[in-house]
Amino acid sequence: MCGIIGYSGNRQARDVVLSGLKRLEYRGYDSAGIVVGNGSIQLVKDKGGMANLESILPEMKGQYGIGHTRWATHGPPLKNNSHPHLDCNEELALVHNGIIENNMALREELIERGHTFKSETDSEVIVHILEELYDGNLEDAMLKTVAKLEGSFALAAIHAKENGKIVGVRNISPLVVGVGKKENFLASDVPAILEYTDRMIYLLDGEIVTLTRDEVKIMNFEGKPVARNWQKVEMNLEGAEKSGYEHFMLKEIFEQPDVIMDTFIGANLNAENGYSINLRPDTIKIIACGTSYHAGYVGKYMFEEFAHVPTTVDIASEYRFSSATNSNPLIIGISQSGETSDTLAALRTAQKRGFNTLGIVNIVGSTLTREADNIFYTRAGLEVGVAATKTYITQLIALLTLAIKVGVAKKTLGIDEARHLSNQLRKLPKHVRTVLDNSEQIIEISRGISDSKSMFFLGRNMNFPVALEGALKMKEISYIHAEGYPGGELKHGPLALVTEDTPVIAIAVKDQTYEKMLGNIGEVSARGATVIGIGTEGDTELPKYADHVIFIPKVPPLFTPVLVSVVMQLLAYHVANVRGCEIDKPRNLAKSVTVE
Ligand code: F6R
Repeated sequence: MCGIIGYSGNRQARDVVLSGLKRLEYRGYDSAGIVVGNGSIQLVKDKGGMANLESILPEMKGQYGIGHTRWATHGPPLKNNSHPHLDCNEELALVHNGIIENNMALREELIERGHTFKSETDSEVIVHILEELYDGNLEDAMLKTVAKLEGSFALAAIHAKENGKIVGVRNISPLVVGVGKKENFLASDVPAILEYTDRMIYLLDGEIVTLTRDEVKIMNFEGKPVARNWQKVEMNLEGAEKSGYEHFMLKEIFEQPDVIMDTFIGANLNAENGYSINLRPDTIKIIACGTSYHAGYVGKYMFEEFAHVPTTVDIASEYRFSSATNSNPLIIGISQSGETSDTLAALRTAQKRGFNTLGIVNIVGSTLTREADNIFYTRAGLEVGVAATKTYITQLIALLTLAIKVGVAKKTLGIDEARHLSNQLRKLPKHVRTVLDNSEQIIEISRGISDSKSMFFLGRNMNFPVALEGALKMKEISYIHAEGYPGGELKHGPLALVTEDTPVIAIAVKDQTYEKMLGNIGEVSARGATVIGIGTEGDTELPKYADHVIFIPKVPPLFTPVLVSVVMQLLAYHVANVRGCEIDKPRNLAKSVTVE
């Protein structure tokens, strides 16, 4: 997740690109850079955020240019890895958002043909391919270049000799064109350019745009012209950074279909980057805090099911007080921030015990990425809301992917089975969209339970930790007391708290726990509780037991935690919203917990 911008018009490009990048900084702030064209190209870039870039930015004369703010994926956040990247002749400049999956192979070929690379990024291959294919016309070169790329990419490029021209590309990663009067714009997101124009063309996947001061031309990857009208965007700048969503949390919930795919694609890159994760451990121990702990707890069921590896899960702050585990364990530390002190301390303890450690981390360059023996990046992008949503979902995807890999390595999962699961995984974004499309029903249910003082979340097996996470999300943003329990455990004590004022959210999807969950729903209904069931679409039985049923699409059992979690996020969000809570910054909490 990075931010890109381009400008061609009568203003000084430096100023437009700089102001746009400031508005895109939420997409990444590891490094930033600007290129301005004026017969030659002038480049300024550095590690750090926009404040640093602005402080070193000289006067730059030129009326077309591109800029980038980076959220590092390939290569640490250093100046060399910052965008824009230049070709060997320093005539072409390029910015990229996304991941080039075949970058290793392309890079080797380009080096063999004599290109000099200045960065470790996957993006730099693109500018060298452009250089080889350039024959006086940038859009022609771009058309041939995209045919060689695999992965997700939004691009913007300029050439020193093509005055005023910017060529942009959209493939999976977002890109929007802003249509002005005698000026045109390109950006990852509307807020970057809304100050100048409200007339937008949202590019579609597989499209290339050429823009100059006076013209916007779009073609597809076959080179055929595409006609597209601009739309007027009704958005004020304040709301725009949230892309029209009322809160960052809601925006981040709705980004989940995209980041699931990014993490899935990125899983192959983790391997390509040469990491040697121990895929044949005898045991696995997962260590994490809060929401990351809940993701790890779901992961336990994945490793045990797909790879038959006994897996335990420890809260990081408790791990150091435990005794060492058996021989050949793989220790997995999960942390969105990579800075959580408890998790770092636990991993250090594990390393002192001589164990191999793997970090599942979202923030590139964070402490955990420097300390763990191996790293698996989730690719959720920047999460602004304090309550973890998209980063948790990508942790689940990372764990699913890893569990499948371990299963294949240990031969507990056949290649065909693994392929089938991966295909199912690819369909998950679509299923998440179906759940998101059901928001109206969830809003309605949320209104009915928003006055409660206390709630229970019930689930069994891999959906027990999902119940824990549902309860955590509810309490941290709505301030309603909520507890997650395994369905069968309620009768051993907590049932005493269940009354008609205690809504119960029960996960009763069609798996081996289904019948038992129906029994648990009966127990709480008999005490007058309002039951909100989460079930599998097509189930006609559950509505007879529960007061409301929210359906999720049918997926393999170990994929249900992803879809159920999205329902729970929406439920917590809308309950908190009805109650008028400060959703993005809940009281007493911080995004990165750096105290033990
Ligand atoms: C809850 C939440 C926290 C974090 C926890 C660990 O929504 O975000 O419970 O999950 O503080 O943080 P990381 O994953 O950064 O180690």
